[in-house]
Order: sequence, then structure tokens, then C-alpha cells
Amino acid sequence: SRHVALVPAAGFGQRFGSPTPKQYLDLAGRPLMAHTLATLAAVSTIDAVAVVVSPGDEWFEDFDWSAIPRLTVLRVGGASRAESVRNGIAALREAGQLADDDWLLVHDAARCCISVELVERLIAALADDSVGGLLALPVPDTVKRADPTGRVEATVARAGLWLAQTPQMFRAAMLAEALGHGATEAITDEASAIEARGLAPRLVEGDAQNFKVTYPQDLALAAAILAARTG
Ligand code: CTP
Ligand code: MG
Repeated sequence: SRHVALVPAAGFGQRFGSPTPKQYLDLAGRPLMAHTLATLAAVSTIDAVAVVVSPGDEWFEDFDWSAIPRLTVLRVGGASRAESVRNGIAALREAGQLADDDWLLVHDAARCCISVELVERLIAALADDSVGGLLALPVPDTVKRADPTGRVEATVARAGLWLAQTPQMFRAAMLAEALGHGATEAITDEASAIEARGLAPRLVEGDAQNFKVTYPQDLALAAAILAARTG
């Protein structure tokens, strides 16, 4: 079946705190999310790439995206990430660009260091899976639970704890159904919506390089990772 990448890029980057949303900031001569979209488009098993931007977006048109093949822009971003994803799926289905049993790979625009190899690893691991799943990383550090005053209440055993990354890969109809349930503010990733429907997504080992640019100091790390890759 087909594989369609859907990239939510309608956030305003509150934590980053720049007037231009972080996905449009310059990174090695291109908008940050140009790296994200180009890598997804370079995966041979991905048939189409769609990006969701905010209806009031003032930045998308400032760049020439024609170097990225098979790119569709959807101006249907919502108030939360889950709403942006839900609206994006609905727009693709209405346009006849998404069939019920197509695989959707939802990937954060801000995870600009995603590699072709990681996406291929995810697709290969889930090819015969009845639910789908996500890239994730075993928690590397000792985990503490704090009380409201900032004192340690407990050390949480880290065995079995994973940090969720993206892409998160599910069948289009299953994901649309799951995202249609409950308040989207409570849904922080696609997998949690699927879990809320009683299904168990598979975890596929990701990579620390596939981190999400969240704060200004993250840009230098992203630049270094991309520079090392292109040699
Ligand atoms: N996103 C989106 N629609 C929203 C909120 C977020 O499409 N209403 C996208 C962001 O553009 C980003 C991805 O979801 O690519 C991951 O979200 P995050 O890193 O939290 O980005 P922001 O929400 O923009 O940042 P912040 O939470 O700091 O405001
Ligand atoms: Mg956010």
C-alpha cells in the first residue's frame, strides 16, 4: 500500500520564542523544515509528502519549495498539533489523495535531522503490523518524580520507559478515527490517540539525532548534525 508523509508545521514555537516560527528559521541556508521535507521526499517508499501550515501563515511563500518533489501544502493548521494533523488528514481525504488503508507517517516539521535510514527502518519494521507504531528512544537517564516544591518524591525505574519521537505510522482510516475521539488538547501524539482506542502501537528504536528543535540552543546541534552528514 501507499505511504504518505504528513508534516504538522502550524505551530508558533512559544518555547523557542522567535517572531518567525522555528520551522522557518534559516538552517544551513534553507528554512529549517526544508531539511525535514527534503529527507521525507527522498525516501523511495514514500509516495507523497504533505505539509500542514497555519491558515494565517505569512512565511511559506517566501521560499521556493519546488526542489522538493511531490509536495502538497495544506493551509488547515489548528490550535493544537493534534488538530493540525486531524485537519490535514481530512483535507487529504477530501482531495482524494488518501485512501483508508494508506500508511500515514506523521512527522514533526521541527525534527529536521530525521534521516532516510530511520524512516526506512520504521517502514520496514511495521510493514506487516496490524496497528502501526512509532520511532522512540529508550530513556537514557535516571528518572526522578518530583513533588510540587521540586524535591524528589521517587526514583522511577527506567526499564520499559521510552521517549516518543516521530514519524508515527498508522493506517489513515484508523488514525482519523482515533483522532476524532475526545479533546485534541489531551492528544500529544498520534500513538496516544491510538492507545486510547485500546490498541498497542509498536515501538521501533529511533536515534538521539532525531530530536525536536524546541529551544534556541537546539539550532547549533541541528546544524552540526546536518553538516556532518553532508560532509
Ligand atoms: N504544530 C502544528 N500545529 C499546532 C502546534 C504545533 O502543526 N497547533 C507542529 C509544530 O509546527 C511542530 C510540531 O507540531 O512542527 C511539534 O510541535 P512543537 O515542537 O511543540 O512546536 P510548537 O507547538 O510550534 O512549539 P511550542 O510548543 O514551543 O509552542
Ligand atoms: Mg507545541
